[in-house]
Amino acid sequence: MDSLIIGAGGFVGSYLIQELMSAGKSVGATKLPHESIRIGGCEVFDLDLAKEHEIRMLLQTHRPAQIYHLAAQSSVAVSWKDPELTVDVNIKGTLHLLEAIRSVEDYYPRILLVGSGEEYGYLRGGACPIAETEALHPGNIYAVTKACQNMIGSVYARAYGMGIVMVRAFNHIGVGQSPQFVAADFALQIAEMEAGFRAPVMKVGNLAAKRDFSDVRDVVRAYALLMEKGRAGDTYNVGSGHAVSIQELLDILLDQSTESIAVEQDPARMRPSDVPVIEADVTKLREDTGWYAEYPLEETLRTMLNHNRRNFGVPVK
Ligand code: GDD
Repeated sequence: MDSLIIGAGGFVGSYLIQELMSAGKSVGATKLPHESIRIGGCEVFDLDLAKEHEIRMLLQTHRPAQIYHLAAQSSVAVSWKDPELTVDVNIKGTLHLLEAIRSVEDYYPRILLVGSGEEYGYLRGGACPIAETEALHPGNIYAVTKACQNMIGSVYARAYGMGIVMVRAFNHIGVGQSPQFVAADFALQIAEMEAGFRAPVMKVGNLAAKRDFSDVRDVVRAYALLMEKGRAGDTYNVGSGHAVSIQELLDILLDQSTESIAVEQDPARMRPSDVPVIEADVTKLREDTGWYAEYPLEETLRTMLNHNRRNFGVPVK
């Protein structure tokens, strides 16, 4: 097996499977028992990262040359409500994976650990766009767990000489993303309004926050490039390099609709604390891999909105 994706049952997994298969790799993918992956030609395994011995058995049998670690509790909002789950999956799950790899004899795979732009958190003024060398000041439990994962990866790379590359992925969006996340949520609300299933009132949270959005297809291409070309023990930002406010993101989507839509703040969508700006400096990614983004934000948002329209039988625009 060339590549094993741990935690491929989520949003990003199916895109990464396609990316790697189209490059000719033999791909394995793990998922949780309740998830499903229906992509022909990819070997699928049920795996719970809480069970280190199961990870070890899988690795011993298939000895993948590359391991992409996507498994995570990936929602900042959920991390406020369930910090323990977030710590268990994001920190302990990573430790179990790395220990399982170490326990397999004569086995030295390349490993990509996917962290988050949220790790940087509350920056000193003027630090945007944020380079990988910036100090971390995480502002929520999710961000803390990803910062911790990054530090664990860097310790294992240095101490045990493991081929670990760490990523800090900024916001990525696309068709298939859960409406837990802002762009998918707004696109779904608009399609529901156009279909007449919802009153034309958009429910929103904090519109002042600025985030760096990329198309998920650009992001998985960066992961594949970093797996091949990233320096072991190093961390790479993956983002567009340009932050937009959530208000701007909303305005792009509203412009793509002919409905007249009011906007209303929903207190349940506000977070106890929300980092004001998160914007990636992607110089290192570009220099080391030659990566560049292919999909403009407007196009990705239109693709998401049209996908929802098709689901509701509304004409696409
Ligand atoms: N979800 C959501 N829903 N967020 C809203 C809403 C809303 O109705 N209104 C405003 N927001 C704001 C949030 O407060 C936040 O500032 C921003 O929109 C983005 O929120 P999310 O889409 O939920 O993503 P996130 O930034 O918290 O986390 C995502 O990006 C990280 C990288 O920066 C996730 O994909 C993480 O897994 C990822 O690491």
